[in-house]
Amino acid sequence: MSWHLALEVDRASRVPLALQVRDSVRRLVEDGTLRTGTRLPSSRQLAADLGVSRSVVVEAYEQLAAEGYLVTRRGSGTSVAADGGGLAPVDSALTAAASTSTSAPADGDGSEAAWDLRTGTSNLLAFPRQEWIRCVTAALADAGHRELSYSPPAGVPLTRHILAGYLGRVRGVRTRPEDLMITSGFAQGLALLCRVLRDRGHRALAVEDPGHPGEREFIASAHLRPVGIPVDAEGIRVDLLERSGARVVLTTPGHQFPTGACLSPARREQLISWARAVDGYVIEDDYDNAYQSRAGQPSALQSLAPDRVVYAGSASKVLAPALRLGWVAAPSELMASLEHVRAGWDIGCSGLEQLAFARFIDTGALDRHQRRLRAEFGRRREVVRQETARHLPGTRVLGGDGGLQAYLELPPAVDEDSLIRAARTRSVLIRGGRFHTLTDTSRPPALVLSYATVGCDGLVRGIAELGAAYRRLPAGQVGANAS
Ligand SMILES: Cc1ncc(COP(=O)(O)O)c(C=O)c1O
Repeated sequence: MSWHLALEVDRASRVPLALQVRDSVRRLVEDGTLRTGTRLPSSRQLAADLGVSRSVVVEAYEQLAAEGYLVTRRGSGTSVAADGGGLAPVDSALTAAASTSTSAPADGDGSEAAWDLRTGTSNLLAFPRQEWIRCVTAALADAGHRELSYSPPAGVPLTRHILAGYLGRVRGVRTRPEDLMITSGFAQGLALLCRVLRDRGHRALAVEDPGHPGEREFIASAHLRPVGIPVDAEGIRVDLLERSGARVVLTTPGHQFPTGACLSPARREQLISWARAVDGYVIEDDYDNAYQSRAGQPSALQSLAPDRVVYAGSASKVLAPALRLGWVAAPSELMASLEHVRAGWDIGCSGLEQLAFARFIDTGALDRHQRRLRAEFGRRREVVRQETARHLPGTRVLGGDGGLQAYLELPPAVDEDSLIRAARTRSVLIRGGRFHTLTDTSRPPALVLSYATVGCDGLVRGIAELGAAYRRLPAGQVGANAS
């Protein structure tokens, strides 16, 4: 391996070359530029790069090794020593950065728990690797100059064309390829929308309460005030939205996150009328539509009013968050502003990945994958229903018709936090309703149980453990017929 090290020597200097090399490397180790474990070029390679004789570098390396800055091991070459500059090893530094990233949940990374029932991810082990590899390989094999170059910031035209057709077919979305933007996940779509809204004078964005805490933080960091609007069994309370003063709302009408309510037909009409009356927009986050039961599922809200609803989707739940693939279908006049902002933002996301995704849709692989997962999640949902009835008596399971999570409404006397803590001691990680709440504290205590990552057998055992924690709550908290 020919490692490169950015270093220079000054031939005009009276300082001997070996000392120059030694001092430069030592400085880089001390100031942390060269971190513990970093491999250095061989003496032969560095000598060639610097245009000096090999003995110069050998002498410098030997001296630095003697001083404890470098270690040399047969077969693995020369690297920065563990206490060189007092820095953490490269691997642990990377791990630390990952575990302190903003997306990491405050309650651990879940690796220590036997049953991780928290929301936020999908059945990643089911990622269709072979089909995806085939699509990536074919996309790359066919890519010419145009495909390997910059694509329009809003996305590769072919992908937008195929995706527009697909969204029309499966969700009734009424859009044109030119009104569809490929984003780096829904997160970027939301960030772009927030920027455009702020530029247009908006200062508040209504959100569902309970809702997604991460999205609220996102909105706040984009300098918009998230205004919580309570949710009931019919979805967002449009009557309260009407009184909020906001002119744009972010909502999950297909399967409210996290309660699972599907926005009722009457509320759909009411929401569109509101958007027209305030000259505003509805942002429809269709995050888990792939897992709705197809029969009887209403089309996307956007199909009722493409001029007022911004439709947003993502591959995170159906494929994997690692792809960072999302999309936004917006009314034309809004799309023009989104494109303008996007052009100065990141000039678009990976064209090759978009082309692979287009193939994934076009060959039917996405439909096949969804069908498989829908069947599996249907089975898991049934297990959640049965085992909850058995082990958590007095609990109501809401939002049980689709998606990846169930909302378990607990008897009013249950202390949510105590139950979550007790569950954790039994190796079950789960979040409560309050974690998702902004200001509406009127709801009964609840658990939000994701069955995305735990299979049927695991759910049986995990919910039994949860039940054991539930039964041990102080007398008077649990349902009357708890055994
Ligand atoms: C409510 C909701 N919307 C959208 C997303 C998808 O976000 P992204 O595409 O940025 O991964 C998620 C993923 O967890 C989600 O929970």
